Amino acid sequence: MKVTILGTGLVGRTIAAKLFELGHEITIGTRNVESTLNREDKDGYGNPPFKEWYKDNQEIKLQVFKVAADQADLIFNCTNGQASLAVLESIGEETLNGKILIDLANPLDFSNGMPPTLSPVNTYSLGEQIQERFPNLKVVKSLNTMNAYLMVSPTLVKGDHNVFICGNDDGAKSRVKEVLNSFGWREDLIIDLGDISNARGAEMLLPIWLRLWGAFGTAEFNFHIQRNH
Ligand SMILES: NC(=O)c1ccc[n+]([C@@H]2O[C@H](COP(=O)([O-])OP(=O)(O)OC[C@H]3O[C@@H](n4cnc5c(N)ncnc54)[C@H](OP(=O)(O)O)[C@@H]3O)[C@@H](O)[C@H]2O)c1
Repeated sequence: MKVTILGTGLVGRTIAAKLFELGHEITIGTRNVESTLNREDKDGYGNPPFKEWYKDNQEIKLQVFKVAADQADLIFNCTNGQASLAVLESIGEETLNGKILIDLANPLDFSNGMPPTLSPVNTYSLGEQIQERFPNLKVVKSLNTMNAYLMVSPTLVKGDHNVFICGNDDGAKSRVKEVLNSFGWREDLIIDLGDISNARGAEMLLPIWLRLWGAFGTAEFNFHIQRNH
C-alpha cells in the first residue's frame, strides 16, 4: 500500500519506519524538503533533526505535503494540531476527496505557556474540524492518546490496554483497524467510540495524559478500560 505520512516529527518518523518495515511504500510530507533536510536543531521535544533520522531511512521518500499526498492510498495526519488544517488546505480537496485520513494530531495550544490548552475543545474537536472542512475525506481519529513509540509497539506497556477509534465511515474504520492490527493491536483492545464527534473525548484525554506523564516521569503508559462485558 502507498502510505503518506504528513509530518516530520517523532510521530511521523515512528509511524513511517514501522509501515516501511511492514512492507509499505512510504512518503513523508513536509512544508519544504530542502529546509527540513538542512535543519540542524533538535525539535521542541529534544528529538534530533530530521536529517539524522533520515540517514538511516533513505528508502522513505520526502516530498512537500501536496506531492506526498497525491499518490496515497492512505494518509496519516502527524502534523502539529494547530497547523493541521493549513497543511490539509495546502493539499486541497481534489487530492483528499475519497481518501482515508488517520488523524492522530492533538490540537494543543502552547500560546499561553505550560500546560497547553486544547483548541478547539468541549463542543468541537480537530477531528470534526477536518471532517467538516473536507466532507469527502474519510477522517478516522485514532492513536492520539498515547506516546509515539507505543502506537506501533503496544507491548512496550505490559498487560492489556486500549486504543480508541472513531469516524463516520465504517469502511474506513475497518481499514484503519487492519492497520492497527498490523501494529500489534489485538481486535479486542480497539474501542470503536462511534462517529467523528467522539474525537472530542479522545482529544480531551490529553490534559490527563500530560499530567500522568509528569507524575510518572515516563511516557510508557496507556489507558486501559476495565469492564464486565
Ligand atoms: N509526540 C508524541 O508522542 C505524540 C503522541 C500522540 C499524538 N501526538 C500528536 O501528533 C502530532 C505530531 O507530533 P510530533 O511531536 O511528531 O510533531 P510536531 O512537532 O507536533 O509536528 C511536526 C509537524 O508539523 C508541521 N508543522 C508545524 N508547524 C507548522 C505550520 N505552521 N504550518 C505547517 N506545518 C507545520 C511540521 O512541518 P515541517 O515538516 O515542515 O517542519 C512537521 O511536519 C501532533 O499533533 C501531536 O499532538 C504526538
